[in-house]
Amino acid sequence: MKLPFPTLTADEAAALIQNGQTLGCSGFTPAGAAKVIPKALAARARAEHEAGRPFKVAIVTGASTGDSLDGELARADAISWRTPYQSNKSLRDSINKGKTRFFDMHLSHVQQQVRAGFLGQMDWAIVEACAVSADGQIVLTTSVGASNTFLRCAKKVLIELNHFHSPRLRGFHDIYEPQDPPYRQPVPIIRPSDHIGQPTVKIDPSKIAGIVESNMADETGGFEPADAVTNKIGENVANFLAGEIRAGRVPREFLPLQSGVGNIANAVLGALGANPEIPAFEMYSEVIQDSVVDLIRSGKIRFATGTSLTIGKEKLQAFYDDLEFFRPRVLLRPQEITNNPEIVRRLGIITVNTAIEVDIFGNVNSTHVMGSNLMNGIGGSGDFTRNAYISVFTCPSSAKGGKISTIVPLVSHMDHSEHSVHVVVTEQGVADLRGKDPNERARLIVQHCAHPEYRDELLRYFEMAKDGHSPQTLANAFLMHQQFLQTGDMRGVKWTP
Ligand code: COA
Repeated sequence: MKLPFPTLTADEAAALIQNGQTLGCSGFTPAGAAKVIPKALAARARAEHEAGRPFKVAIVTGASTGDSLDGELARADAISWRTPYQSNKSLRDSINKGKTRFFDMHLSHVQQQVRAGFLGQMDWAIVEACAVSADGQIVLTTSVGASNTFLRCAKKVLIELNHFHSPRLRGFHDIYEPQDPPYRQPVPIIRPSDHIGQPTVKIDPSKIAGIVESNMADETGGFEPADAVTNKIGENVANFLAGEIRAGRVPREFLPLQSGVGNIANAVLGALGANPEIPAFEMYSEVIQDSVVDLIRSGKIRFATGTSLTIGKEKLQAFYDDLEFFRPRVLLRPQEITNNPEIVRRLGIITVNTAIEVDIFGNVNSTHVMGSNLMNGIGGSGDFTRNAYISVFTCPSSAKGGKISTIVPLVSHMDHSEHSVHVVVTEQGVADLRGKDPNERARLIVQHCAHPEYRDELLRYFEMAKDGHSPQTLANAFLMHQQFLQTGDMRGVKWTP
């Protein structure tokens, strides 16, 4: 049936967008990200710049996106400000050079802040869909993110109708948007598999300015093959959690799991899958990545809910070929629901996220290298960690060929404070910080998690700082970082007496 909306080319859609406007784009990781309109918009920005006219837009998304959005627009110098998360090299460079303003937000906050107007008026929602109906019902694709809120709150809507995705995805989304305070009700999720919303986003069809048809896979990257370090981290996490079941601190039937993204997260899931003491479990997470799909097939994961299905092209094709197997086992929700503190606390979620660096007291830096340069952003790590039943942070004990210790006296930027961090795991071992004072934490983290090349120096740092509840020597606290910035190596630091 012919839809009552204009069919546009990507260039025609991009031509509708004006300098200075704010766009809410679909995408949570490259999954379900708007692709063809942002790419055309980047070309338009370049043409405007060549003609001597300014052209920049502000962009709010679910989280990171693909290169057609963040990469193309950053390289075209077309992003004035950006939130809440990114992981694109070109955009990261633009942010760290001060060309794009970026503010790092907890992902569970995005939708409420858009509704409340904290981020200003949203001019356009640009959202990828696999089906649209004449009465304004939109079936999203491989992510929900914040798209339902963008679609409802934006003045005008552009849809990328991407035929790569199966329209049979209808039913994989659970769209629920809470009322805002003071009218909000409890979010009625008691088990990860509870459906509480609708399969489509329903909007006023008169807001749809046009539909751009496309056929393009999500621009997901592959994973590095697991190596000895990531495998050992995964094993350490799995053995620790198996020990928690044995000790009766985690119920025999286990608890829902949240896992971050990336190579370490993949290895952790692989190790949990292989550990016979961990029973089949459910995931209440943000991103459903390759390893989760494998574990659903093997029966180790009974059910997985997240806000994005971030899997490679071939695996997604296999998922579509087997859609009816996955239908009762996978559910995509808005990010304010997947990352909702109320639900994370209620379900008793075990959270596993990755740190850039951890200090000897258990404070975690997830976002900034050497205190200054943004890596990606806090993402959902704070939403989950702060409300976890048990919060675990993983990282290799060293980076850059051993020249950087990821265990430091004091983190150079803090995202998760010692109050929220329960367990730290590296390939060296596990530091269980629960019920420990700062003195005990420091010894545990150094002895169990630091790389052997750095252990003595870190112990000396701690032993030099004798006074106080959480002993620091401020003159030395960043000496390892300073030495790295000067010499490119943290090893052999000489503490100031
Ligand atoms: N100092 C400097 N660089 C460091 C470092 C440190 N302490 N620790 C790691 N790095 C570098 C690595 O060398 C690597 O650099 P490269 O890209 O040049 O090779 C890069 O940081 C990424 O590290 P890697 O070990 O490959 O980890 P990752 O890809 O798993 O990413 C985070 C780790 C922390 C950047 C990533 O997990 C993240 O962005 N987390 C925040 C958001 C989050 O947790 N989301 C999940 C919530 S659901």
